[in-house]
Amino acid sequence: MPRTVMIAGNWKMNGLSADLGFFDTIAPVARASAAEVLVCPPATLLAAAAGRCSGEAILIGGQDCHAEKSGAHTGDISAPMLRDAGASHVIVGHSERRIDHAESDADVRAKAEAVLAAGLIPIVCVGETRQEREAGQAEDVVRQQLSGSLPGVSQNSELVIAYEPVWAIGTGLTASVSDVASMHAFIRSALPEPLTTRILYGGSVKPDNAAALLSLADVDGALIGGASLKASDFTSIIEAAGR
Ligand code: 13P
Repeated sequence: MPRTVMIAGNWKMNGLSADLGFFDTIAPVARASAAEVLVCPPATLLAAAAGRCSGEAILIGGQDCHAEKSGAHTGDISAPMLRDAGASHVIVGHSERRIDHAESDADVRAKAEAVLAAGLIPIVCVGETRQEREAGQAEDVVRQQLSGSLPGVSQNSELVIAYEPVWAIGTGLTASVSDVASMHAFIRSALPEPLTTRILYGGSVKPDNAAALLSLADVDGALIGGASLKASDFTSIIEAAGR
């Protein structure tokens, strides 16, 4: 069974209600595409974005969640709340969360399990730093992150992995096509459900490099930060998916 390509935008801490017209602009391109299109706006826009995309071929996701369903956790948002607001997916373990909020692999696993328990699909992010790559440790780091962060798969539930080398995020530097190919093949070999699990690449994906990255056998889509904020760039990347 071929894996459907996923083109996912991560708006990070960007976006106001004035930006919701983005969804009207990308809707016809998403509808015409064979790729699955997902946008993860900030939590403040999630319900409005989901309402705007109702009946369209655009899925809406959260960027993070708390591991608990509810409780005394001021400022946090749970997976059932994200589902209630219209999310189908939740990014967990993004390097910005791992770094800014000191999230460990165990924290990420607990969040991924909470996402599955809420009936949503986790997108679990992994990726090495520049120092780790230069020290030849990239595969070891990613192996460790996978073994520590992936939820138990006894539920046989859907899971998406995003390989995002930290040094490629927001820097304009992209991992070389051959490095991406070999890391994705490595990740696939380490997965409990290698044939069905989608592995996205993230890190400075742009309209001009998307086609080359998406043509790789083990790249099942892209997780896009900066270029997902501009409708024309995001639609070019959706069009580049073309399979
Ligand atoms: P950029 O596309 O801005 O490099 O961000 C990638 C990313 O972190 C997506 O989650």
